[in-house]
Amino acid sequence: MIETERLILRRWRAADREAFAALNASAEVCKFLPKRLTREESDAFADRIDDHFETRGFGLFAVERKDSGAFIGFTGLAVPRFDAPFMSAVEIGWRLDHAHWGKGFATEAARVALAHAFGPLGLEEVVSFTVPMNTRSRAVMEKIGLQHDPADDFDHPMLEPGDPLRRHVLYRIGRERAA
Ligand SMILES: CC(C)(COP(=O)(O)OP(=O)(O)OC[C@H]1O[C@@H](n2cnc3c(N)ncnc32)[C@H](O)[C@@H]1OP(=O)(O)O)[C@@H](O)C(=O)NCCC(=O)NCCS
Repeated sequence: MIETERLILRRWRAADREAFAALNASAEVCKFLPKRLTREESDAFADRIDDHFETRGFGLFAVERKDSGAFIGFTGLAVPRFDAPFMSAVEIGWRLDHAHWGKGFATEAARVALAHAFGPLGLEEVVSFTVPMNTRSRAVMEKIGLQHDPADDFDHPMLEPGDPLRRHVLYRIGRERAA
């Protein structure tokens, strides 16, 4: 468990799944993601996150607001499940319920997730990626110090040629820059 000024980052609880399914069904949240998820798909994603923590010792933390105790989404680290020129790598990622955007929560959570990567986990580099149009996610990447080199941009191998979400921008940060 990691605590920030306004948030708790922790392992997932069964009670998080209902709110997680709601945000995964939201058109706003999923605007730049391949699709909205059904309850079953959302639960399967939560299962994969749990498995990732068990097998790798780190993962996408459930994010909880200290003031209300509400589960608001996830922020954390994951090993992508596809091959790409920048693999192998550890990704930093985030997904919050729309009602909790515009408050700096993603950036607050991402900063401690990054510190966790370079501190206790001892990683050498962290990457993040999204579609070029996802300016909110890119802003979080930039605020926490990741840098974009257009030479690293790639076509997501899990999306079909011609899919408007296929092209991705890649951001990186090394431990020496984060220090
Ligand atoms: C990406 C995502 C997590 C970003 O959320 P966000 O709330 O925009 O990000 P931040 O936490 O950095 O918040 C920044 C905003 O909070 C505001 N803010 C308010 N109080 C603040 C505070 N105390 N500290 C910092 N920022 C604050 C900032 O001014 C900024 O507002 P603006 O966007 O209107 O300019 C969110 O858009 C999301 O979940 N998207 C859907 C999922 C997704 O696309 N994930 C990435 C896929 S690769």
